[in-house]
Amino acid sequence: MATPTQTINAKPCSADETFDVLIIGSGAAGLSLALRMPPDVRTALVSKRELSEGNTLYAQGGISAVLDAGDSIDSHVQDTLDAGAGLCDEEVVRLVVEHGPGNIHWLFDEGVEFTRSPPTGSSGYHLTREGGHSHRRVVHAADATGQAMASTLVGQLEQHPNVCLLEHHIAIDLVIGEQRDGRRLRRHCRGAYLLDLHTEQVVSAAARCIVLATGGASKVYLYTSNPDVATGDGIAMAWRAGCRVANMEFIQFHPTCLYHPAAKSFLISEAVRGEGGRLLLPDGERFMTRFDERAELAARDIVARAIDHEMKRLGVDCVYLDISHKSASEIERLFPTIHKRCLELGFDMRREPLPVVPAAHYTCGGIKTDRHARTDVDGLYAIGETAYTGLHGANRMASNSLLECLVFSEVARADILRELAGDPRPQGAIAAWDESRVTDSDEEVVVSHNWEELRRFMWDYVGIVRSNKRLERALRRVRLLRHEINEYYGNFRVTNDLLELRNLVDVAELIIESAQRRRESRGLHYNLDFPDKDDNQALPTVLIPDSYVPRRSEF
Ligand code: FAD
Ligand code: SIN
Repeated sequence: MATPTQTINAKPCSADETFDVLIIGSGAAGLSLALRMPPDVRTALVSKRELSEGNTLYAQGGISAVLDAGDSIDSHVQDTLDAGAGLCDEEVVRLVVEHGPGNIHWLFDEGVEFTRSPPTGSSGYHLTREGGHSHRRVVHAADATGQAMASTLVGQLEQHPNVCLLEHHIAIDLVIGEQRDGRRLRRHCRGAYLLDLHTEQVVSAAARCIVLATGGASKVYLYTSNPDVATGDGIAMAWRAGCRVANMEFIQFHPTCLYHPAAKSFLISEAVRGEGGRLLLPDGERFMTRFDERAELAARDIVARAIDHEMKRLGVDCVYLDISHKSASEIERLFPTIHKRCLELGFDMRREPLPVVPAAHYTCGGIKTDRHARTDVDGLYAIGETAYTGLHGANRMASNSLLECLVFSEVARADILRELAGDPRPQGAIAAWDESRVTDSDEEVVVSHNWEELRRFMWDYVGIVRSNKRLERALRRVRLLRHEINEYYGNFRVTNDLLELRNLVDVAELIIESAQRRRESRGLHYNLDFPDKDDNQALPTVLIPDSYVPRRSEF
């Protein structure tokens, strides 16, 4: 259910200052990085809506970390590698898993209230289970973990002496400077252009370090569990700025979103299956046992594909998720938000199965970063869902995403502080945004029409099951759209919708091109023309933009 967004008015800042750090995006990744910045570092936090609006706010199941004496780091690492279908970077997996408990304790210290009701195990917290995890290791705040995190962290920001806020500012593009270093060209990020959505003016924000924490891109699909802000802006901006982008073919479809015209793909948490929920066909058959010995708790790619397969085989609109065999009081205690929203839509999960379908949920690929969260452009970092760190491989394991946001904000903080302590790069003023050759748009319908068309063909041709022909069709269409949108962008004053559509089109093209390069099926990428996994292709798909210049310190 859409939870009310929270906004704080403390310390709005003027975009015209030069900041030490400019963080674009205020979800788990951006908020935790901002809070971790020392008081003497002047930091601006930018958000295109209210501060708390984003995927983080809607997170349900929880955050995975080794918190129980019966669990182990090795086990969490192994489960993540298994879910990732041979494409995870094991060093990164270990880094994230090892930093997990410390980051959960950081959240405790910030005041996030996690569920403590029994059975709690040695951690003192109730740990739930989700697909792919061989232990109970997901700490949660009932079924509204993201709401608890976002509201607590936003509240804590009010105490921070040196973070200022630019809400309702959408970043348009990064500003890149170029310098000759001997015979080599060096490129560095100097700031960003932002559209103030209240005044409709474009402002420039300069900073020594810029961090993209802009979240995922699942809005590129017609059906998605994500809120409207998930338009892949950071990935598109970084690509245009010369950063490599990796593994974009691995879009995760969550198996269980509520099937109801008014539900907007409302998520039914995987924790419902973790606590015993069973997937049923319309005739009541429990079908997941036919697909994987872990049944409903197989990794997400397997469950989503099985549901898709059964829906197509039987020609049905949905399957069912049933937890009504559990006591009503337990369902109400563990899933109050889901239960309430389902009741509003006419379903009582205490007594009946819920109709569910898969929907686009998570972007496993993104801006390629190194172990320090650095991108290919000096001074530019990427953290959270917008980044590709190597953690998730070909399929993210449930509840590893919020963990990645926290761990990489910690890692980025350390590198940013080192960077700020070093030699400053020449700054100089950022040129003002040039609007001399544009006018107000006369045909808004172009934007809304193209937005619809893009999301529909991505769903139909680049969804859970792909084929060479479908990908070719999608590529032809996306190139036409890109041409049209770029022309529009060059002639008319920018608006929020135009900027998001421009980014979605760029991201869609990256997804399609990555999917075409992978000539096998693995994890979340399934192509009917290459139905098998090929061990010779166990490498990430890395796309390189024309403007890419290798950094001095290579990855
Ligand atoms: P987000 O939280 O999405 O924040 C992105 C921020 O960037 C927003 O503030 C947005 O306004 C801003 N932004 C974007 N573009 C621009 C721009 N151009 N200019 C300015 N600002 C911009 N993961 C788990 O680990 N556990 C879970 O239980 C879980 N449940 C989920 C449930 C749902 C319904 C969804 C959708 C996701 C869930 N996930 C879960 C995934 C997880 O929530 C996200 O991956 C994670 O929250 C991403 O955090 P983030 O900080 O990277 O991005
Ligand atoms: C869920 O609660 O099912 C979402 C968990 C996740 O995406 O990690």
